[in-house]
Parts: sequence; C-alpha cells; structure tokens
Amino acid sequence: MIILGIESSCDETGVALYDTEKGMLAAALHSQIDMHKLYGGVVPELASRDHIRRIIPLLDEVVEEAKISKKDIDAVAVTEGPGLAGALLVGTSVGYAIGMALNKPVIGVHHMEGHLFSCLLSGSKPDFPFVTLLVSGGHTQIMKVSAPGQYELLGETLDDAVGEAFDKTAQALGECYPGGPAVSRFAELGKSGVINLPRPLLHTDNLDFSFSGLKTAVMNTIRLAEDPNSPEFKHNLARAFVDSVTEVLVKKTIKALKKTGYKSLVVAGGVSANKQLREALTKACKKIGVKIFFPPLALCTDNGAMIAAAAAAHIKNMDHGEIDGFSIKPRWQLSGC
Ligand code: KG4
Ligand code: ZN
Repeated sequence: MIILGIESSCDETGVALYDTEKGMLAAALHSQIDMHKLYGGVVPELASRDHIRRIIPLLDEVVEEAKISKKDIDAVAVTEGPGLAGALLVGTSVGYAIGMALNKPVIGVHHMEGHLFSCLLSGSKPDFPFVTLLVSGGHTQIMKVSAPGQYELLGETLDDAVGEAFDKTAQALGECYPGGPAVSRFAELGKSGVINLPRPLLHTDNLDFSFSGLKTAVMNTIRLAEDPNSPEFKHNLARAFVDSVTEVLVKKTIKALKKTGYKSLVVAGGVSANKQLREALTKACKKIGVKIFFPPLALCTDNGAMIAAAAAAHIKNMDHGEIDGFSIKPRWQLSGC
C-alpha cells in the first residue's frame, strides 16, 4: 500500500511516499528557515503562504522520483495538528482534495505521533510496549506506548519545550533560528564544569520538566560575563546548557523506564538529532539493558515520511468512508487521541 504523507504544521513543507512493504519511496522537503531567520522565529502568516507555494511542486517531485502515477496512491496521510492553524489548513486542504479526487481514504495524523513513528524509517522496529521521549520545538514529553494509538502521558514540560530552550539559548549567543544545531556545535568545543547552570526539577519525584528558568539562567550568565562575546565563553556556556538539559532528560527517561519496566525506548522529535543527548541516552540505556531507537538523523526534524509512517501503523483502522469535510486541530493532546 502506498501512502502519501503531507506535513505542514510549522515551517517545513514535507511530502513523501511511503510503501507499507518497502518503506520510504521518495521524500521532498522545503524548509522555510531562511525566510523566518530574518525575524528570529516563525512568522505564521508567511509560513502559510509559503506552504501554498511549495506543496504542489513537492508533490509532483515525489511522484516523479518514485516513478509512480498519482493514481497509484492508496491513501493520504496529513498532519491535522497540533501546529499553526493557517499552516495546517494548507496541508489538510491539499491532502483531502487529493483523497477526494482519487477516491482514496485520508487519515489525519497527530504531528507528535508522526515523530514517534519516524523511528520506523530507520528500518528498526521497536516492539510494543515501549517508553518514548518526544523532544521538539513545541513538546517535551515522556509517554508509555502500549500500541499504536494507545498513549499514556507520564510527564511533560510545565513551561518551555526543550527545543525552544535550545533556540532561545542560541539566540542569546548570537546564533540564528533554529538554534539547536548551533548550540550543539558550540558545546562540542566547550568544557564541562567551567560554567554551572541549574538542573531544573532533576530531583522531583515526578517525570515533569521545566526549561524556562534554565533559559533565564543562561541570559543572566551572559549579562554578568566579563567578555560575553569571546568564543571560549560562548562554547563553555553552550556546554553547560547541553550538560544541564541532557542530565535532566536522561535522568527522567531512565526513571520512566524503571517505573514501567519496559525494555525499549524511542527518542524522537527535532532535538533527538542532538549528538550529546543521543550519546548520553544510549550509554544510560546500555547500562540498564534497554534497547534504544532513534529516527535517521535527516528525519528527526519535521518531514512528510513520518506522517505517512504513523498512518501506516493505523492502516487497519482507517476510515474508508466518503469524505464529507475535514478539520484541523491546532491544539491537540497525543495521549488519549
Ligand atoms: O520536531 P521539530 O522539527 O519541530 C517541532 O515539531 O517543533 O523540532 C525543531 C526543534 C528546534 O527547536 C530545533 O532547534 C531543534 O529541534 N533541533 C535541535 C537539533 N536539531 C534540531 N536541538 C538540538 N540539537 C540538534 N542537533
Ligand atoms: Zn515536529
């Protein structure tokens, strides 16, 4: 079965064709980063307009790359939420229009469920049940996953998402949006322990996180620094930030694994591309005999293939009825969906 996956919830237009037997057939992506960079963050209206411009050419590109005809598409998967309302409307309108024109089912996918199933795109399949750590620009969650669609939230951020903290730290260090890769690069050059930052909620009993105070601590450290523009200072501060975030994420994830007794961990979302976090989680999981699964590096951030992969997990339950409208869900909880 060939599934067309469409992602347009934020600043990336992603379109992909995914074969439930053979895996990913073709993928195309347009990132709006260069456009939003000028403003220091995503401008929703510009995002929607750009999705409109890109989506059909990207669709034509994947169909050509996979050497299929549009008529060979068996189902359409589209991000229904959460995300920017205008941006979501572009992807869902196109997805449902294609479904209606081809008389094929359309499945609305939760964006974070897409991230969750992006690990299937690396070819390795975790056995259910497992624990997942979802870390992106908008979410930081630990969940118990019993089966596709059966999710129980164990803990989440009480304020900023970890990706947001990376972005704000990068901005404070004079780097462009999105800041995760820059902070990670700086941290590689810095020394641990030269600057100390707090480890928010590290010792609390629950599995919740908080990153907004850490961001403030970064700003205060910059304000009080003798030479905040020196590369050495910037590298050491990035190292301190990454050390703090990594320690908290690892500790709470391991706690969740011990609490559930599950033997597999799936880490996904844009921040799962982070080198230091990958290494620390891999080491910690090895120690307690837990198998760890990541998406391929290139598919950690938003893309269309992950949306198709998530739909594939639900394929048996897919509604093959007639399409009589569609909705978007800019705010949508994954647990209980
Ligand atoms: O999943 P994603 O593409 O979009 C959302 O669903 O939010 O995640 C984007 C986030 C951004 O905050 C970005 O800075 C972060 O992922 N990110 C990283 C890295 N690559 C992307 N954070 C840390 N290290 C990275 N290598
Ligand atoms: Zn995402």
